[in-house]
Amino acid sequence: MDVAAAMRGRRSVRAFLATPVPQATVAEILALAACAPSGTNIQPWQVIALAGGERQRLCDRAQQAFHHEAGQHASEYPIYPPEWVEPYLGRRRRNGLALYASLGIERGDKAAMQRQHARNFAFFDAPVGLIFTIDRRLTQSSWVDYGMFLQNLMLAARERGLDTCPQMAWAMLPKLLTELLDIPPHQMVVCGMALGHADREAPENGWLPEREPVESFAQYRGFAPRQEACGVY
Ligand SMILES: Cc1cc2nc3c(=O)[nH]c(=O)nc-3n(C[C@H](O)[C@H](O)[C@H](O)COP(=O)(O)O)c2cc1C
Repeated sequence: MDVAAAMRGRRSVRAFLATPVPQATVAEILALAACAPSGTNIQPWQVIALAGGERQRLCDRAQQAFHHEAGQHASEYPIYPPEWVEPYLGRRRRNGLALYASLGIERGDKAAMQRQHARNFAFFDAPVGLIFTIDRRLTQSSWVDYGMFLQNLMLAARERGLDTCPQMAWAMLPKLLTELLDIPPHQMVVCGMALGHADREAPENGWLPEREPVESFAQYRGFAPRQEACGVY
């Protein structure tokens, strides 16, 4: 698989098959993820990979927290802006609507939306759950490094026929994760990720989030007129 195909093929999968993923495959994917650059090569990533009973123990505890401990859990860093503004508000809404429409969830059906949100805490049934942490003494630039690591990981997974869903939802439960997974105090939770084989039949995997055209976010300055692109993308 070439890089462009892996990039195009990657998508956030929200229903997985039970097919297990061997530890050696996870290790291989993580080794590729760690090829990511990082400012002065500090490599700020730390990963806890969970499968089997360890994964289940976390999911059980997280489901309990989500359903019965409302108000007792909060993220350690602001996940969403204090106020949503355009164009982000509209994009976010369209994304949510497309997901809920795929599942036949009606607008305003809060119980069904909650049930779908709770699926995060089952890693969408993926056999492998990943929890990512970062040393809290590091700064914003290390979070830039982290994004590259996560994207490398997702592309390496694609190359092996595996799928992923990056999950901010896990950052909502830092206290629970820290206690249950023995995360050292100087580490903070960045996010989680589901890893496994996609269930291609599942309706929630049957839609494609749109992207804005390049002209909407890029400006070109100083280029020679009518230069040809190097590839056929
Ligand atoms: C850092 C990050 C956190 C995310 N958190 C969640 C999450 O908690 N739950 C979820 O269902 N999707 C989550 N997503 C998936 C996004 O909704 C998804 O990337 C976006 O809709 C674009 O779709 P695509 O990944 O299929 O291209 C997250 C994505 C990123 C990059």
